[in-house]
Amino acid sequence: MRALCWVADDELAVRQVPDPELRNERDVILRVRRSATCGADLPLLAGRDPLLTTDDVLGTEFLGEVVELGPAVRRHRVGDRVVVAASVACGGCWYCRQGRQSCCDNGSTDPASAEPGRGRRSDAGCFGRPRAAGGFAGGHAEYVRVPYADIGAFRVPDEVGDDRALFAADAAPAGWLAAELGAVRPGDVVAIWGAGAVGQLTARAATLRGAAQVIIVDRHEERLRMAERHADAEPLDYRRSDIPTELRERSGGRGPDVCVVAVDTPPSPRSVADRFGVRSADRPDALREAVHTCRKDGVVVVLGGADGFVDAFPLGTVTDKRLTLRGARRPDLREVPMLLDRMARDELRTEHLATHRLPLEHGPQGYALFRDRADGCVRAVFTP
Ligand SMILES: NC(=O)c1ccc[n+]([C@@H]2O[C@H](COP(=O)([O-])OP(=O)(O)OC[C@H]3O[C@@H](n4cnc5c(N)ncnc54)[C@H](O)[C@@H]3O)[C@@H](O)[C@H]2O)c1
Ligand SMILES: [Zn+2]
Repeated sequence: MRALCWVADDELAVRQVPDPELRNERDVILRVRRSATCGADLPLLAGRDPLLTTDDVLGTEFLGEVVELGPAVRRHRVGDRVVVAASVACGGCWYCRQGRQSCCDNGSTDPASAEPGRGRRSDAGCFGRPRAAGGFAGGHAEYVRVPYADIGAFRVPDEVGDDRALFAADAAPAGWLAAELGAVRPGDVVAIWGAGAVGQLTARAATLRGAAQVIIVDRHEERLRMAERHADAEPLDYRRSDIPTELRERSGGRGPDVCVVAVDTPPSPRSVADRFGVRSADRPDALREAVHTCRKDGVVVVLGGADGFVDAFPLGTVTDKRLTLRGARRPDLREVPMLLDRMARDELRTEHLATHRLPLEHGPQGYALFRDRADGCVRAVFTP
């Protein structure tokens, strides 16, 4: 089959790779209908993960049709149109039973690979990621193998189109999780750094949970406008304003109740990744701003923007202001049916995020547009 592969640093190509096969009785094989780029792919493209190898198939967010079923699959039939959660989770471990599938103990096929630089065994697996996330081939391909399919694949209601349902795989659950970790309550002021798809869907989730005011910070005019139009967020361009001052002014002098950091991860020296298998951000600007601006006793949620190690982090401010600091690398699965329901009821619309639709063969160009934020690209969506 044809698939979009990582080849080398800053080099992607559509190549011929072996067709996926059922390997486990709980697997299904999917014929992919759509797949999307994600901000979390960008560090991978630059080759900053030592566990990425040539011909790894990328693609965390995808949707397709079931074409083959393992004998133990109960919830799916051949021909079902399903969206597949980006996180790979077993459904049976202690974390999965609590609904915290993103912490699954069994989702990765190589859990020890995350240990050297991170001091932990890896969490749930993830499609289109290197070995530390299980090494599962991603959805930028004609076909994909979905392990634990009864747990991670969800039937899409007929009234929800592909370009909407696609984002129930990752961006929408990530945004929902951010609002949930922030414990956003009716009347809250919520500030979000980063107006990519994840930041925008965090804004929408905050509004749906009753936030009185949602402010979104970025420098890309089109993204800010989109967040304003589709998520009722107040745009704030960080090139034109002093963000802490502006946010305090807009929140009665106190600062936002909840601050979410959904920015991309700044580049780190390749040498650090090579030598220690870890990444380091020495300029966690957005994270620092969030900690400095959040009101006392507020919550700061980190979805992205500071991978591995971070220097110059204002830990003292976390203590002084009795902040709660929460993080998540990827979303749980339990909210996907609820999000699909909201999509079916038209409460959650996401198709505008698919700014560029391209055939899979144009995958490398799609990623270049996405990486450079060229032509207003928020997500490039590929059709095999
Ligand atoms: N935790 C999860 O569940 C989860 C899931 C998916 C993605 N992510 C992470 O969320 C982040 C956002 O994902 P995305 O796909 O929307 O990314 P994206 O790359 O499309 O967008 C990131 C945005 O952040 C903006 N930005 C960068 N620095 C900023 C700053 N200092 N202040 C304000 N804005 C700034 C950029 O201009 C860009 O618009 C990524 O780091 C990604 O890895 C987390
Ligand atoms: Zn599990």
